[in-house]
Amino acid sequence: MRRLATDPLPAIVPGMDDFESKVREALANPKNQGELTDADAVGTVGSPDCGDMLRMWLKFTEKDGKRVIDRASFQAFGCQTAIAVASMATELLKGKTAEEAGKLSASDLTGELGPLPPMKIHCGQLVEGALRSALGQGTETAPAVDSAPTLSAGFAKPAGKIRIVPLEDSQPS
Ligand code: FES
Repeated sequence: MRRLATDPLPAIVPGMDDFESKVREALANPKNQGELTDADAVGTVGSPDCGDMLRMWLKFTEKDGKRVIDRASFQAFGCQTAIAVASMATELLKGKTAEEAGKLSASDLTGELGPLPPMKIHCGQLVEGALRSALGQGTETAPAVDSAPTLSAGFAKPAGKIRIVPLEDSQPS
């Protein structure tokens, strides 16, 4: 069948249009952005792939005899996909124990965004890395003692015992 000039062009990557519209939706109303000043844990990671950085704060509470995540928030110094994933992830984390949260993979954390396209997988891994850092899985964590007015200011002058840890390059070379 002949394609008319007015027909939409086929997506270069199948499902990319759908993904991009979901990212746009998430960015129109991002959830849980900004520092949690009373956080119990904070984690920060930087991506060696693109230089972007993300920080995540966690606040725990007691519920039904379990210590669960009450609130999670983030600040991103990076791309829109990472912001959209972090927005989804910080909603998904509510009510989870640290153990449950620690079992979530980057693809779990994308929530309604669905699977990330190959060139955006590291954006989800950035969010996963910040979560793992906050949970103390393989990196130092520290209470959010000093507040930084902006994420970039926080990176320029880290507060407390925060250590910026590059994610391991998981892309095949
Ligand atoms: S391009 Fe760097 S985290 Fe998305």
